[in-house]
Amino acid sequence: MTRDEARALDAHDPLAPLRDRFALPAEVIYLDGNSLGPLPRATGPAMADMVARQWGDRLIRSWNEGWIDAPARLGGKIAPLIGAAADEVIVGDSTSANLFKALVAALRIQSERHPERRVVLSEAGNFPTDLHIAEGAVACVPGARLRVVPRDGIAAAIDDDVAVILLTHVHYKTSERFDMAAITAAAHRAGALMLWDLSHSVGAVAVDLAGAHADLAVGCTYKYLNGGPGAPAFLYVAKRWQDRLASPLSGWMGHAEPFAFADAYAPAPGMKRWLAGTPPMLAMAALEAGLDLWMAVDRDAVWAKSAALWRIMAAAGDAAGLECVTPADPAARGSHISFRHPHAHAIAQALIERGVIGDFRDPDILRLGLTPLYLSHDEVWRAGDILRDIITSGSWRDPRFATRLAVT
Ligand SMILES: Cc1ncc(COP(=O)(O)O)c(C=O)c1O
Repeated sequence: MTRDEARALDAHDPLAPLRDRFALPAEVIYLDGNSLGPLPRATGPAMADMVARQWGDRLIRSWNEGWIDAPARLGGKIAPLIGAAADEVIVGDSTSANLFKALVAALRIQSERHPERRVVLSEAGNFPTDLHIAEGAVACVPGARLRVVPRDGIAAAIDDDVAVILLTHVHYKTSERFDMAAITAAAHRAGALMLWDLSHSVGAVAVDLAGAHADLAVGCTYKYLNGGPGAPAFLYVAKRWQDRLASPLSGWMGHAEPFAFADAYAPAPGMKRWLAGTPPMLAMAALEAGLDLWMAVDRDAVWAKSAALWRIMAAAGDAAGLECVTPADPAARGSHISFRHPHAHAIAQALIERGVIGDFRDPDILRLGLTPLYLSHDEVWRAGDILRDIITSGSWRDPRFATRLAVT
């Protein structure tokens, strides 16, 4: 694609006006929204209102003026993005904590239904926290154990021992996407529950949890949902499981009557039982501003533009002779594109120096997020051109690009 062709796509881009809703620095082409979404312009005023009015003036009265309902209200705003009903999603804790709650709950219900099923099945090379949390979760349930197999061995590993399958829908490194409906159906045929990590899917690709009949899901909100660094995560529990599963983090905010101050725990009905402690309202205010931006967006236009942006960057990588590890089929991938190169870290640093912010994933992956809400086709074209120049000129070889920082 030529630059003029990219510009012509921008001229007819229905999402182009959304760019102004983000406070992006003019000199930067931001290809890391798959890791930390940029700042929506509405977030600052929303947080100022939260701090000065809601906290400063209204003080504790704010709990009854919208705060206490925030976890369910924000969950309801995420629901349409993942094919869930509003009362199947709640916002709170981190993705890691939600993974723990969901895994332990699923293992426990399975030990009542099918005592022989004790295995959590997951993918080797899954995002580390998924495997680390799964290790911790199986240690909490007598007899449970973790089985980790390569991606292409998942289907064959679904046997009579499997209680729960935990997979990340879009892979954080390669952007490969699992067929959610097919794997969920295979899990159910075998009597297992299916737990999806949607961290790299929500806001990146169309997700239909209801259509796939998924049981459980978790995900981040600080990537494509632009909720801010460390924004609270979400948890989805299909309605049919809501009164049967119990959170192992039985905190007071998940109690049926938190303000009865009872000694004994009684779980709230519906999704509230998954709350543990007091919701972090400053972070919730930032997240809600990010979510509200999504409410009026034509999601089909987002998925279509994501595919177009991907084609532009894939062509640039090809021209630079880079190995693309992301599948070309849009249905088999997420919204980011990844290239393998033994010096991917230095290339990522060289890109950053030229104003193109992407990232590096150990040991050899250059990862570029292609986020349609605020990127133009022309920006992605220019970023691809800079990438091609860095590779063909060998400018990444400069020793100053070799230093690794703590966060890559
Ligand atoms: C697939 C996946 N799961 C979980 C996380 C992060 O979890 P947490 O928000 O608990 O740090 C990430 C972060 O990039 C991720 O990619």
